[in-house]
Amino acid sequence: MSKQILLSGLKPTGRPHIGNYFGMMKQMVDMQDEYESFPFIPDLHALTSVQSAEDMKRDTINVVIDFLAIGLDPEKVNLFKQSDVPQVAELMWIFNCITTMPYLMRAHAFKDAEAKNKDINVGVFSYPILMAADILIQDSDIVPVGKDQQQHVEMARDIAEKFNRIFGETFKLPKSKLVSGVEVIPGTDGQKMSKSYGNTIELFAEDDEIIKAVMSIHTDSKGIEDSKDPEECNIFALHKLFSSEDELMEIKKRYVEGGMGYKESKDILIKNIQDFIRPLREKRKEIVEDHEKVIDILKKGGEIARKRAEEKMKDVREKVGLSL
Ligand code: ADP
Ligand code: TRP
Repeated sequence: MSKQILLSGLKPTGRPHIGNYFGMMKQMVDMQDEYESFPFIPDLHALTSVQSAEDMKRDTINVVIDFLAIGLDPEKVNLFKQSDVPQVAELMWIFNCITTMPYLMRAHAFKDAEAKNKDINVGVFSYPILMAADILIQDSDIVPVGKDQQQHVEMARDIAEKFNRIFGETFKLPKSKLVSGVEVIPGTDGQKMSKSYGNTIELFAEDDEIIKAVMSIHTDSKGIEDSKDPEECNIFALHKLFSSEDELMEIKKRYVEGGMGYKESKDILIKNIQDFIRPLREKRKEIVEDHEKVIDILKKGGEIARKRAEEKMKDVREKVGLSL
């Protein structure tokens, strides 16, 4: 039996953080043997917020290096950038014409963006449609994402169903994949960790940056001897990602009994995050030197993704009556 298709994207919009890592990037690495995988860089999506060619190019190259540093194997996966598959923009237009405005207005990400700034661009509004095109054009089965993107994957399913109903069976219905315990990684202020909230711990942070980020984690004012509820603590939420089972039990016990202050808890977290990040950072430094290799990987992945997309579009154009 042929392997199922796994696809997910990470935008080139600055440095990735541990929320991106546990929510999405790690999944792509862990599943690369089992699935036919398409990790990609949604540069067209990034255009909704990035308006500097220099930043776009730099961050696109960086995302490739980041993925390689955490163990994605370019021999096993098809790593590509979205703009190398221009067919998605064509498919988006077709989807635009079968999707209603009231439906799109229900997207959480759109509502959040609009609440912050009424002057948002049309790209932000039709963002889920482009994402549906990314997913459906490759016949994706599984889309690993954090909780914030789950609704977008459900919208892709809805759009596929609607297209199939109108024009006949064409698209596979994709499923999102959320890994329990890492659906929403909290940032240093307890909100969802996000580049746009300035509450991140970067995935390739230097030791002193890790200290600074962890020291800024918000806590309440309980003293060392006070009993603390681990589930209420932003530091403890991150211990869950970086501690061994035994260590986590021990920390939990000392939180509840009293005797562990937030300073000590942060010191343990700093050490564990530093130990976790150090090898990734070292690996990343080795790859940084090889710019040519990065370009080659994207080119190869792009050719495969584009070929599959073009095959799919032949069927779509036929179904909607664009090819004579
Ligand atoms: P950001 O919110 O920092 O801009 P992106 O939107 O680029 O992050 O997210 C890229 C991927 O990482 C998506 O699959 C998203 O769901 C996941 N992700 C982002 N932040 C988190 C988080 N705090 N916890 C879990 N997953 C996350
Ligand atoms: N919207 C996703 C994010 O912000 C990125 C993305 C674009 C994506 N196209 C996708 C993710 C297709 C999964 C599948 O994180």
